[in-house]
Amino acid sequence: MEKFLIKGSSSKGVKGLINCSGAKNAVLPLMASSILFENTVVLKNVPLGANDVQTMIILLKSLGSKVQIFKKKKILKITNKKKHKLLVKYKYISTMRAGVLAMGALIGKYNKCSTALSGGCSLGPRPIGYHLAGFKRLNCKYSLSKGYINIFSKNGIKGGHYHFPKVSVTGTSNLILASVLANGITTLKNISIEPEVLDLIKFLKNGGAKIYSAGKRTIKIYGVKKLNGHQHEVIGDRIEAFSYLCTAAITKGSIKIEKINPKYLATELKVLKNIGCNIKVGKSSIELNRKNKLKPTNIKTAPFPGFATDCMPMLMAILTKSDGKSKIEETIFSNRYMAAPELVRMGAKINIKGSIAVIIGEDELNGADCISSDLRSTFAIILGAMAANGTSCVSRVYHGLRGYSNLYNNLKKIGVNIKKKS
Ligand code: EPU
Repeated sequence: MEKFLIKGSSSKGVKGLINCSGAKNAVLPLMASSILFENTVVLKNVPLGANDVQTMIILLKSLGSKVQIFKKKKILKITNKKKHKLLVKYKYISTMRAGVLAMGALIGKYNKCSTALSGGCSLGPRPIGYHLAGFKRLNCKYSLSKGYINIFSKNGIKGGHYHFPKVSVTGTSNLILASVLANGITTLKNISIEPEVLDLIKFLKNGGAKIYSAGKRTIKIYGVKKLNGHQHEVIGDRIEAFSYLCTAAITKGSIKIEKINPKYLATELKVLKNIGCNIKVGKSSIELNRKNKLKPTNIKTAPFPGFATDCMPMLMAILTKSDGKSKIEETIFSNRYMAAPELVRMGAKINIKGSIAVIIGEDELNGADCISSDLRSTFAIILGAMAANGTSCVSRVYHGLRGYSNLYNNLKKIGVNIKKKS
């Protein structure tokens, strides 16, 4: 099991440039959506180093898709020549939440499938009740047996209405996938408008889907007969970009991130500015340097365009070095503070009560042995280790490798004193 040994320093700031990868949470739905297309789909700027992408490749192959990988060019070509198998096995889905998206695509195309209940980061319960309630509105029936959802539509998927009780990212994508080839018109209300969902909509529309905005957080989908394969460039990963910006914020360093649209991080960049980071944005780049003491802040996570829950663990890590008391309220997941006890081992003062974290900034952190237990908390712990005096050993970094391409090499490149240990 891979571990990272990180020798931190409270005086040496990171310096350098990171080319942002394609967004993991954009490419996974795009890959799942390939099931709906007639011929070859070409995806560019694919974060092939993220292990979830490799898992999705295996999943698609298990269903019968032909997947060609062009590693150097970061391209995937996915071709559907024959009818897909309609069983998504547990072993392909147990570690990855996005595997559930195969369900929407398979019923969208074939009107039935059996899918194991998906896994992913343990951030609290990860129900799919909204997905299933939405499928029901599209003329589907389902049953649960031995950990598998068996879902079918007797007379084919029909357009319907669904209002999400709470914004759901994969819920929105799954219902879009199920309804683009439906018979009739589907209306989805209170949808996610995360950039990754909009990227999926753009991709489907360019293939012939008819999806139109119909008011605030509402879309109408007019079912079409088929989708035609085409090329698509995956958007940059805003969470990866934010994570690396935090490396400079916590170490008093300077960093430039390229291949990222700063608009995807408008709220998060405002917060970084407010706590004392200097930020310069270009058309597709963000630069951050920090010279002065960090100031405390109060934030609350929310669906886009609010402060992203995925960025919260990294912000929590940098606030451990601020000058005062900060407060975070996590509104999306019930168990998203997994980095906190590990940062506390380094001397951070973080108090968690329910959904609220109170952080009292400290001048010094000290290296410690830590365990990461989800994707973003891995990066948050690494941030603490970078700014701590002495060496930290971060184990179970495989959680981080699910979503960060080239994590080790990128950290080394910007000057982090890091070694791998098995
Ligand atoms: N929810 C329900 N019922 C449902 C679906 C969701 O109650 O049927 C609740 C969830 O429990 C949660 C909230 O709705 O409280 C939002 O969950 P959502 O469905 O939006 O989360 P997700 O689609 O499972 C995606 C990302 C996560 C990211 C969240 C929130 C992917 C593959 N995953 O998860 O990414 O945190 O949206 O933005 O897109 C990550 O990359 O580290 C990560 C965890």
